[in-house]
Amino acid sequence: MRDAQPKAIYLKNYQPPEYLIPETRLHFELHEEFALVHATLRLARRPGSSATSLRLHGEDLELLAIALNGRALVDGEYAVDDASLTLTGLAETVELQTTTRIRPQDNTALEGLYKSRAMFCTQCEAEGFRKITYFLDRPDVMSVFSVTIDADLERYPVLLSNGNRTAQSGLADARHRVVWEDPFPKPAYLFALVAGDLARVEDTFTTMSGRSVVLRIYVEEKDLGKCDHAMQSLKHAMRWDEEVYGREYDLDIFNIVAVDDFNMGAMENKSLNIFNTSCILASPETTTDVGFERVESIVAHEYFHNWSGNRVTCRDWFQLSLKEGFTVFRDAEFSADRGARDLKRIEDATLLRTAQFAEDGGPMAHPVRPDSFIEISNFYTLTVYEKGAAVVRMIHTLLGPERFRAGSDLYFERHDGQAVTCDDFVDAMQDSSGVDLSQFRRWYSQAGTPELAISGEYDADARTFALHVTQSCPATPGQPDKLPLVIPLAMGLLGDAGNLRLQLQGEPAGSELADNTHRVLEVNAAEQSFLFTDVPEKPVPSLLRGFSAPVRVRYDFSREDLCALMMRDGDGFARWDAGQQLMVQALGNLQTQRRDGEALALDPLLVDALGGLLRDEQLEPAVAAAMLALPGENTLAELASHAGGADVEGIHAAREHARGAIAGALGDELAGVYRRCRVSEEYAPVGEQIGRRTLANVCLSYLATLGEAQVALAATQLEAADNLTDRLAALQILAQYGEASQRESALQRFYDDWSHETLVVNQWLQLQAMLTVGDSLERVRALMEHPAFTLDNPNKVRAVVGAFASGNPTGFHRADGAGYGFLGGIVEILNRRNPQMAARLLVPLTKWRNYPAGRDAMREELQRLAALPDLSPDVYEVVSKSLA
Ligand code: ARG
Ligand code: ZN
Repeated sequence: MRDAQPKAIYLKNYQPPEYLIPETRLHFELHEEFALVHATLRLARRPGSSATSLRLHGEDLELLAIALNGRALVDGEYAVDDASLTLTGLAETVELQTTTRIRPQDNTALEGLYKSRAMFCTQCEAEGFRKITYFLDRPDVMSVFSVTIDADLERYPVLLSNGNRTAQSGLADARHRVVWEDPFPKPAYLFALVAGDLARVEDTFTTMSGRSVVLRIYVEEKDLGKCDHAMQSLKHAMRWDEEVYGREYDLDIFNIVAVDDFNMGAMENKSLNIFNTSCILASPETTTDVGFERVESIVAHEYFHNWSGNRVTCRDWFQLSLKEGFTVFRDAEFSADRGARDLKRIEDATLLRTAQFAEDGGPMAHPVRPDSFIEISNFYTLTVYEKGAAVVRMIHTLLGPERFRAGSDLYFERHDGQAVTCDDFVDAMQDSSGVDLSQFRRWYSQAGTPELAISGEYDADARTFALHVTQSCPATPGQPDKLPLVIPLAMGLLGDAGNLRLQLQGEPAGSELADNTHRVLEVNAAEQSFLFTDVPEKPVPSLLRGFSAPVRVRYDFSREDLCALMMRDGDGFARWDAGQQLMVQALGNLQTQRRDGEALALDPLLVDALGGLLRDEQLEPAVAAAMLALPGENTLAELASHAGGADVEGIHAAREHARGAIAGALGDELAGVYRRCRVSEEYAPVGEQIGRRTLANVCLSYLATLGEAQVALAATQLEAADNLTDRLAALQILAQYGEASQRESALQRFYDDWSHETLVVNQWLQLQAMLTVGDSLERVRALMEHPAFTLDNPNKVRAVVGAFASGNPTGFHRADGAGYGFLGGIVEILNRRNPQMAARLLVPLTKWRNYPAGRDAMREELQRLAALPDLSPDVYEVVSKSLA
């Protein structure tokens, strides 16, 4: 925390470092009250620089000793303030030695070196290393690290850092020493250290060139039985990266460590990934199907960073999406290849449309490559990660898989060992393919969600169908005017008997495209038209198939058009998407009826269509489940915010009415499908089973709206379940739709059964934070008093406070504004204890402009926070920008 108001830094002011640090030697002495860090840095002036002074980063450090080239410095020969150490009169190469004292035990921000329960661990990305020792803590300074760790042998038998273990020895006083050396130069944000009493599982992987790699996952002894899924996922990811990208692992050992207290999901430190336990441990009893998939994709994500992030890293933090966007794209393709592609696209599109579009239309909107920031931790956003991945996906679509792979090969070959920019990435794609990507680059610099307004025009005499496309993009903070983007628009045309053969005017006639019913149109101007010839009947266009671009599409579909697409289009994603649009329309109508005091009547066309899905035994269960699920309240709020503001109560009431009406009309079908899907089999987190469970639980959740008899099904399921997926789904239904006594006893019983499993308890907390029966806020306050809760553990805070603020809209937005005051109060407490968490929790409040009813109260809470003394830069940035 600094005294002066935090200042923004700008991409346009980027300067290369004056000195480089080719070699770093660290020696840690870990003690119970403090840790000593002895650092020896070989500093070398950057060729081209003539600087003789240097400012190193350092925060919360107590400098005990300092020497240059072996000579201790005296006062006046260096300067220290609360963020830096400045040296002057430096030669071209020097050796700097410092000893600092730090207090990992008191580090509640979980950034730098800290303690999680009985173990020491680190989180350095983005700027945590400066809380360990004085350094050039910026990603364009890459250094070869050697690390010596001394600690008590009994408490910390396992001592880990990056690279290879090169020595170990006993020390006096029952202590021991281990030395690690990482041959690959890396920026400080990839440094990691772990010390603890950990057990491990071990496996090996043989790389494509035949090298054997030792794989180890370190956890607490009690969790040894929950590592298998992560290990299998790691091996799958290693193989996939060889096969799809030609990328081989580069060291003989790869370690993963699980820690309980972690601000994020996981971290890709070179050869020593550190994971939140919630993203690595998995067992049928403690992990849902969604949890298993999450572990697989995060293990893969962190592993893929070894190339896209570590071997080639970012020049500066404005380029964060260089590694994150690319790596999210890689992990999404991995998941799609491992499971069902359409479903993965549905999940990702939902995330983009709900949360990323909201971010991109709100006060914190920023480009995939931001121009400025106050606190980089605030920019680990959906825009940088998910929209960044969508941008890479569009390059993949424009180039096609072969040319994309060639571009990726060129990128890794050109930049191995370097810290580079998003432009370097696009250059490699452009140079290897010959495709001009100059206009495409605007995706990196322009914020906001583009909108395509599309209309169709059929000429029966000429047998032509024209698509007229207009693109626009709303203003975002600092960017009033937008330029046209390159938008790949995947599409087809649906006729009475299925998708039509496509012939675009200008395309060679009868062109031998493998799939002649699918095209990717390149939209690149403010206005343009595409003319299809030889169209035998008036078609319904199937647009933005596979969510081919992170844009909104407006097309004036009739309800019948949407039904036709939903039931018959050849593209799975487009079918789901059409169904969602039909639901959005129907739910909007219910809201209007409610506002006008009319009786609520759900669109019968929608009910018929859903009945059709339930009767279609050919449809894959997972797809049916996705198509049966109504858009979530946050998705509906996001759509409404675009058109005048969200009526939280109205959205909730409309959605609940629709659920009841669908169950009322299709009760027999729902019950039939439920029974059909409840197969007794040994639990495995595999696609087919997951699909059946998901579908069964969707049906059950509809059925539960019908009353006691159906709620009893949930009670039976809860009794019989042998896995957390079915158990949690049933518990949620009982708690939401059962009577009060049933609710409380089921919740209590569940806790009694599972109180020994932290991760299960966290899911139990989260389920309750999202219940909408009774006084939710009261319930949430009570949960915070529960012995299983602590504000010091980010997973608990997310499960209760985060889930309430973003997953319980009617509770959070209650009319008296108490939900806002509650959230503000938590942010106020965490502002000092854990600024990253505090700033992240705050996000739902920043959307105040989208909620007409709560607008003033939300803004007032932000203003109250803004006036607090001693705001962390993290919270200051979010508060001040959202009020601007
Ligand atoms: N690089 C990590 C990942 O995406 C996330 C690190 C987040 N750090 C932060 N300060 N927010 O895998
Ligand atoms: Zn990442």
